[in-house]
Amino acid sequence: MEKISEGTMSRQVLLFISLFSLGLVYGQVSYSIPEEMTKGSLVGNIAQDLGLEIKRLVAGKAKIYTRNSDVYVELNRERGVLLVKERIDREALCTETALCALHFQIILENPMEFYSVAVQITDINDNAPTFEKSEMKFKISESAIVGAKFVLDRAVDLDVGINSVHGYDLKPSDNFALKVHNNADGNKNVEMVLQKPLDREKQEQISLVLTAVDGGEPQMTGTMLILITVLDVNDNAPVFTQPTYKATVTENSAKGTVVATVTARDADQGSNGKITYSITNTLDSVRKIFEINEENGEVSLIGDIDFERSKYYQINLLASDDGGLTDSCKLIVDVQDVNDNKPEINIMSKSNVISEDAKPNTVVTMINIEDLDSGENGNVKCFVIENIPFSLKASTNNFYSLVTDSELDRERSSEYNITVTCSDEGVPSLSSSVTLTLQISDVNDNAPVFERSSYEAYIVENNTPGLSVFTVKARDADWNQNARVSYILEDSSVNGVPVSSYVSVSADSGVIHAVRSFDYEQIKDFHFRVKAQDGGSPPLTSNVTVKILIQDQNDNPPQVLYPVQTGGSMVAEMVPRSADVGYLVTKVVAVDVDSGQNAWLSYKLQKATDRALFEVGLQNGEIRTIRQVTDKDAVKQRLTVIVEDNGQPSRSATVVVNVAVADSFPEVLSEFTDFPHDKEYNDNLTFYLVLALAVVSFLFITCLVVIISVKIYRWRQSRVLYQSNLPVIPYYPPRYSDTLGTGTLQHVYNYEVCRTTDSRKSDCKFGRAGSQNVLIMDPSSTGTMQRIQNEKSILDEPDSPLEVSYVM
Ligand SMILES: *[C@@H]1O[C@H](CO)[C@@H](O)[C@H](O)[C@H]1NC(C)=O
Ligand SMILES: *[C@@H]1O[C@H](CO)[C@@H](O)[C@H](O)[C@H]1NC(C)=O
Repeated sequence: MEKISEGTMSRQVLLFISLFSLGLVYGQVSYSIPEEMTKGSLVGNIAQDLGLEIKRLVAGKAKIYTRNSDVYVELNRERGVLLVKERIDREALCTETALCALHFQIILENPMEFYSVAVQITDINDNAPTFEKSEMKFKISESAIVGAKFVLDRAVDLDVGINSVHGYDLKPSDNFALKVHNNADGNKNVEMVLQKPLDREKQEQISLVLTAVDGGEPQMTGTMLILITVLDVNDNAPVFTQPTYKATVTENSAKGTVVATVTARDADQGSNGKITYSITNTLDSVRKIFEINEENGEVSLIGDIDFERSKYYQINLLASDDGGLTDSCKLIVDVQDVNDNKPEINIMSKSNVISEDAKPNTVVTMINIEDLDSGENGNVKCFVIENIPFSLKASTNNFYSLVTDSELDRERSSEYNITVTCSDEGVPSLSSSVTLTLQISDVNDNAPVFERSSYEAYIVENNTPGLSVFTVKARDADWNQNARVSYILEDSSVNGVPVSSYVSVSADSGVIHAVRSFDYEQIKDFHFRVKAQDGGSPPLTSNVTVKILIQDQNDNPPQVLYPVQTGGSMVAEMVPRSADVGYLVTKVVAVDVDSGQNAWLSYKLQKATDRALFEVGLQNGEIRTIRQVTDKDAVKQRLTVIVEDNGQPSRSATVVVNVAVADSFPEVLSEFTDFPHDKEYNDNLTFYLVLALAVVSFLFITCLVVIISVKIYRWRQSRVLYQSNLPVIPYYPPRYSDTLGTGTLQHVYNYEVCRTTDSRKSDCKFGRAGSQNVLIMDPSSTGTMQRIQNEKSILDEPDSPLEVSYVM
């Protein structure tokens, strides 16, 4: 630091000669050299400077004398120069003193002389500034105010002057500035001053480097690390990582389920950064459903989550640190629907009864469906499973109507249990169902049906009137009144007579009664219709044919048709005397109006003039000779033939057959006029004939009159009957009851005649009795035999008065 040396190795020789020394001192030289010169470096040419000759030096055994033991410089006598003997360190030699010089003498002998030599050592910058400690540590609160000072250690530099510590530098200089005060003692106080507030949250550790520089050339530096720990102050509020959190939770989640975890960060440390979480909702039910873990921010369930009650929750959360700073956020919890609600079926209106004739698409029931779930879970479909004539129609918005989709029939099914099932589309699907009971009411759509398609009944003739014959029955599939069947005899006529005069039908029971006694010989069968009618409105009917067959009783004896039994005329069969055995004399012809066994006739000979001469065919009634006729046989033979039927009990008739055994007609005549009653007969014959003619004429006219009047009466009567419309009144037709007082037949009955050619065969033909050759003898006539070709059946009209014309 001295300005003596300019720092170079330039030598300065300061030579002066001291004449004031003790007589021995002849001179003094001074040299200046920098420190740290290499060994052997020239310090100064002492011989020259002192003006001494080399010889003198050598002769004088010149040497260096010093009080110090250390000798840094040596003398080379031969060259007369001073050389550096060992390393000269100014700092070691002189410490901090600014002037540093070596002082020694050079002594000569012979003569003794000495010279003072001073070698000034000048400083070179060979020492860097140094700090005592390599680092300094500070703990500074982040709340330290700007301007706060922190004293730093100084640096030391062994060099002096300009080579010593010259200045300081602090890097980085973000927060702190360096301030150096020069003290009165020349030292410097080094301080760092807070220029910008610290933020622990930004930078907790700050390291700075303090550099000390000296003024030498080259400049040397020393550094010290300054470590600053920023101490925390609760200057930070907690901050949630998001202003709004979102979470979803499925409804019905178990308690304890963690819904979400929220996090708040507090930049502070320790208790300043210790965050406590809480829920701040007050009015709603959130706090009953959710709780938050104070420490870790886990939001979990403590209550029941029901989507149907609340679809989302807004939870207000607060985070606070111990210092009382807070932050808040929202947690939106969306509740996810779970299919936990069955569809609800509400019956809005329903009919309990529907008529069976309801048209298709008649609405029976309206229902409304509700499912509290949403989305698929609330999408409901309804259907009817069973195979029934009903279907569900969806109308708008969960409304369904149950309609009939085909014809109903109470007779097939009078009641339906309709199960409507509704299921939602959730997974798994929930469903519910409701059963509706629907009665089908009756409509009169079924006619009564008779048990049989037709009936046949037998009734034995001569029954008592009022006899119940049998019962017809019809059923009606409808219900109650619609199924109440009544029976009605349908108007018709049998042989021109209203059928109601034959039978009656009990309206309630269907029992058929005979109204009158039947005669098989007059009527063998008849049929009529019975109508069954139900009680519906309008009523439905059906009818059935009933055939009544009259069964025969043996109530008629056989009737002999031939030979005709008359009082007046005399009929005789002629047998020539020449007739052979087996000659067919005649044939008794009889009929029985009964039928079957009752009409099966047999013929027997009851009495005969000569039993040995004739026989009667048991079945055919043929009278034949059984032996040769002889002259002795009487001309007049009288046979009585009994005709019996086979009924039980049997009935019979007898007939007398006159046989004339003669070869000539006069013979016969003479014989037969002998008959006593024949004589009387002849007397009266003429009278009878006249009388008969008169009677016939009278009857004919009477008949005509009666027939015409009856016709008129019946026409009037039928009108009266028709109008009164009486259902079943047993009444006897005029013919039987004679109510009209005529006693006349209006109708002619055709009777079957079972001729007895062979009764067992019972072949029924119209009798043709007159188709045979017969001899009719009339004593009152002229005696000629008449051949009557009578093709007309006398049986055609047996009751007719005109029959008389055949009887002669
Ligand atoms: C309908 O349900 C009722 C009551 O369960 C039952 O008595 C009735 O027999 C059922 N009807 C039909 C037609 O199944
Ligand atoms: C009787 O029934 C038949 C069908 O079975 C019907 O054709 C007829 O018209 C009915 N007769 C009367 C008189 O009702």
